[in-house]
Amino acid sequence: MTYAVAQAAAILATALFIFSLYWMNDPKTARHAVVAGVSGMLVAVLATWFQPEIVHHGWIVLAIVAGFVVGVPLSLVPLTAVPQRTALSHAFGGLAAGLVGAAEYFLGLTEHPAQLTAFRMSAIVAEVILGFLTFTGSLMAAGKLQEVKWIPQRPVTYPGQNVVNIGVLVVAVALGVVVVMHPAAAWSARVFYGIVGLAVLFGVLLIIPIGGADMPTVISILNSYAGLSAVAMGFVLNNKLLVTAGALDGSSGLILSIIMCRAMNRSFTNVLFGAFGTVQKTVAVGEQKAWKQETVEGAAQLLEQASLVVVIPGYGMAVAQAQHKVRELYDQLTKRGITVKFAIHPVAGRMPGHMNVLLAEANIPYTALVEMEEINPDMPQCDVALVIGANDVVNPAARYAKGSPIYGMPIIDADKAKTVLAIKRSKNPGFAGIDNELYVQDNTWMLFGDAKAVIGDLVKQLASGSGIH
Ligand code: TAP
Repeated sequence: MTYAVAQAAAILATALFIFSLYWMNDPKTARHAVVAGVSGMLVAVLATWFQPEIVHHGWIVLAIVAGFVVGVPLSLVPLTAVPQRTALSHAFGGLAAGLVGAAEYFLGLTEHPAQLTAFRMSAIVAEVILGFLTFTGSLMAAGKLQEVKWIPQRPVTYPGQNVVNIGVLVVAVALGVVVVMHPAAAWSARVFYGIVGLAVLFGVLLIIPIGGADMPTVISILNSYAGLSAVAMGFVLNNKLLVTAGALDGSSGLILSIIMCRAMNRSFTNVLFGAFGTVQKTVAVGEQKAWKQETVEGAAQLLEQASLVVVIPGYGMAVAQAQHKVRELYDQLTKRGITVKFAIHPVAGRMPGHMNVLLAEANIPYTALVEMEEINPDMPQCDVALVIGANDVVNPAARYAKGSPIYGMPIIDADKAKTVLAIKRSKNPGFAGIDNELYVQDNTWMLFGDAKAVIGDLVKQLASGSGIH
């Protein structure tokens, strides 16, 4: 009976996880996706808890309480810190997988050596290597993103680094093969510790050559590793739900990193071994041409006279938390009969869907959000392109400047609009560290300042000086 309930729960939880991923495809169904994912996890935890093998319910209650104590504050971080928060979650997942694998090995060694079959041992070794490298790799990634002082943000590289890194992994796998072949020899436990140590070291070595810039992509790859270690754990514990959930986690992480790499025109190997961020090249376009500034009054007038306004949000909108003011601006413009669209670049901000989440939080209708490929043909008809804290994703250098870190990245064609209004605080470059000729183009006008403050002033100006009542 309990077996049948466990099987039914596994199918239900798997179905909920699949629907969760499917509903994440569309902002309209994204909330359902979250509910389905949480429900699936609840079903999985309860179904596991009711297994007859559970020997101590007190430990489970303690683990759940500990999970709440850590998880609730983690859920309260600002949206801009979500990438590092996600990395920490992967670190915990990796550590759990690594510890379960180690516990299964030592339990088998002391109590039932006959159960340490070649298949089971292979799964344990895979789980331990993937689990522990995900643990330290994710901690390093979170530290880099959080700009922890003692972890250098910039890529740390040295000659022969890839050989050293791959060498460490190869030795760990070779030791794994030895333990699989001799799981219960007198020296096997020491070799097992060696594998754990090398996996921990590999996680650190894997991340140090990668710049903070590429961390969101790397986190997604680590997500994939955490999923694979869960699959191995499922085989070790003979738990089908762990196998299916881990496979979904592993494949979705991999697909997401591929999508992110494509959107940044980077190859997968380039992210992992390329040390992006070492080049801080500046294209000297900004030096010859002057930056022109516009007043809030002038900008409000330009907006009022437009028929089509395309808002291009970027990381600066997230930093300023300007989304609610943007919604007020949207209301001011649309009530004048002006069409307002939001151009969404796939890697605007610092995590996938960053802009969608912020704009949805401010209740901007999903129908006003337009993907880059769809909006670009309309840009020549756009009267005002309002760039809010976006930089790299509207940098025309991506089209032609070979050698630039963003060369080849598809961009939103803000430069093709009739007029460009750009909001940022200074003349500093964006994420890739390069100048942006869009800002000094003849038809571009800068509104210097914090995005929330500038948009707030624009809204006030439109509300007070409008002919609309
Ligand atoms: P960025 O190129 O990072 O530019 C953001 C701009 O916002 C900066 O120029 C900054 O200029 C301005 N800014 C910052 N705080 C502001 C504030 N409070 N008010 C007004 N402006 C502010 O952003 P983007 O155009 O969104 O491009 C994203 C970059 O991140 C791309 O290079 C992309 O490849 C990279 N990336 C993205 C992801 C994902 S998945 N989204 C993952 C990895 C890497 P000031 O300092 O002068 O204000």
